[in-house]
Order: sequence, then structure tokens, then C-alpha cells
Amino acid sequence: MKTKIEELLNYIQTIAPKSKEQAEELRIALLGKKGKITELFEEFKNIAPEQRKEIGQLLNTLKNQAQEKIAEFKNQFESTTSVKDQPADLTLPAESFSIGSRHPLSLIRNQIVEIFFRIGFTVSDGPEIEDDWHNFTALNTPVDHPARDMQDTFYISENPDIVLRTQTSSVQVHIMENNAPPIRTISPGRVYRNEAISARAHCQFHQVEGLYIDKHVSFADLKQTLLYFAKEMFGEETQIRLRPSFFPFTEISAEMDISCPFCKGNGCNICKGAGWVEILGCGMVDPSVLDNCKIDSKQYSGFAFGMGIERITMLKYQVKDLRLFFENDVRFLKQFKSVI
Ligand code: DAH
Repeated sequence: MKTKIEELLNYIQTIAPKSKEQAEELRIALLGKKGKITELFEEFKNIAPEQRKEIGQLLNTLKNQAQEKIAEFKNQFESTTSVKDQPADLTLPAESFSIGSRHPLSLIRNQIVEIFFRIGFTVSDGPEIEDDWHNFTALNTPVDHPARDMQDTFYISENPDIVLRTQTSSVQVHIMENNAPPIRTISPGRVYRNEAISARAHCQFHQVEGLYIDKHVSFADLKQTLLYFAKEMFGEETQIRLRPSFFPFTEISAEMDISCPFCKGNGCNICKGAGWVEILGCGMVDPSVLDNCKIDSKQYSGFAFGMGIERITMLKYQVKDLRLFFENDVRFLKQFKSVI
């Protein structure tokens, strides 16, 4: 047995596998279940007690040397075949990655901003968590005013003076309080209302407010500005119509319809046969709102308008369910390709 071990010890010094596979074959031949060294361990059970110590030590040395040698080769092959040592194949196609797309509401908001930017409107921002003054009272809607029922409001329970803004009209007040006329600005942003969620209503949505204050601003200026907007947004052939309406902060007030962009006014299921679709509210800023914001209503006049971004987007892209905008389903979102 001793000679067998010594032979194997010599043999191990000579081994030189040429690949990882050969090294593995060697391992199996020596140390596998039926390997030569494993067999020697079997034989060792029958060895005479006086030889045990010497043979046992030799056998262990053999096993350790064999393991080390094979591990050494395996390591060597592993590092020589690693990817970083391979010559790079520059002809392989690059891995593609998706870059996403803009949300349809952002696309339309950007388009609205751009349209008004071209006629001198700046963009302004206001807080979504508002106080009662900016959201209601300064806008001619005192606590007991029935018009508060038009907008179901989220109040902060600890402080009923604080609300989630129900309209971007609140930004009008900030702007007029902090700037002297002339003012020409639009304010896009998110608003909140306590509404049951359905295909046509949501507890959060987006509006764009418009405000123009200067000397001698007239209803004709309002009408011309909105006609320009409608044509830029929905096409040159678009017509508008203004219907008398009521908003607490404008006097006179109107709602604006555009000729249905789908049937060109002939009547279809989108406009429910009317040939017209409503897109915004507007009017001349009520002089008492100007006074509330410390702007002299005897010197200045102005117009304001407000539109829902979801409404415009649904019309532009024929989206039938408002909830799709907030579900973040990539299959829906990736259909809208950005040009801006
Ligand atoms: N704030 C109104 C709303 O949320 C929309 C609106 C109507 C804004 C008329 C205006 C306006 O500035 O003049 O329903």
C-alpha cells in the first residue's frame, strides 16, 4: 500500500491537464467515488494497527496534494477563459434599453404652455396645500357662499383653514398679491376634489389657469386669445362659442365650447350629436377680486380662464376613461410619443 501511495504522489507531480474538463476528469479518477485515492482509503480500513499511523499520514498528504493540484489547475483555466480576457466582438449588436416616454398629461400641458408662451404668457406656480383665503375667500367665495358647493373640498381636519386646492384659480391670487400689472401668465398644476372616482371624475386632476391684467383689457381680448388657443390646439378650422355662465370670481362669466374636432361640428358620439364640446370656463376678473389682491380696479381690468388638462388630453387622444391617466400602465403610457 505504501508503494501505491508513493507512486501516486509522484504521478500527481506530473499531471498537466490542458483544460478545465480534463482537470475535472482527473479529479474524478483520483478523488471521485471510485477514484484511486478513495479506493486507498477503503483499503486503509484493513491495514495492520502498527502501520496505521505512518500510512494514514501518507494517505492524507496524498489526498491534500491531489486536491490542491487540481484546484490550482481549475483556477488557472477559469481565469484564462474569463470574459474579460476574450477579445471583444465589436460586431455584436448593442443591448437595447427603453427610454420611456412622456406622460400624455405632460405632453398636453407642455403644448398648452408653449401655445401661450408664443403670445407672451409666462408660467407661474402656486402651492397645492392652500389656505382658505387663496382658494376661496379672495376669489369672492366667502364661507357661506353657495358656490362653495360647486367644488367638494378636502379640508385638513386639524385646521379647516387649510385645504387641498380645488382649483388653480388660487394661483391668480398669489400672483396679483405679489406682482404689479401688467400680468400675463398661465399656471398649470394639480388640483383635488372630494369626488367618487369614475371614468369621468377623479379626486385629483390637473388644470391650467390663465390670467391677464392690464389697463383696458376687454372681453374682445379674452375671446381673441381663446380663439387663438383653440386653433393652435385643435387645428386651424376650429371654431369657438361662448355661453353665458357663472363663476364667483369673474363678472361676466362664460363657458367656451369648440366645434367638435372629430366630426367638425356635424354631430358624433363624442360631442353627443351637438357638434360642440365644452373645454373651459372664463370671464372678466371681478373688480372685487382685483381689490382683494390690492390691484386698483378703477385703473386695471383683466380676464381669466381655467381648463382641465385631462379634458383636453381626452379630446386630443380620444381617451375615454380618466382613470387610465393615473394607473401607470406602461401599455397605455407608451402609446404617446413625445415631440417636445
Ligand atoms: N376655477 C374654475 C373651476 O375649477 C375654472 C375657471 C373658470 C377658472 C372661470 C377661471 C375662470 O379663471 O375665469 O371650475
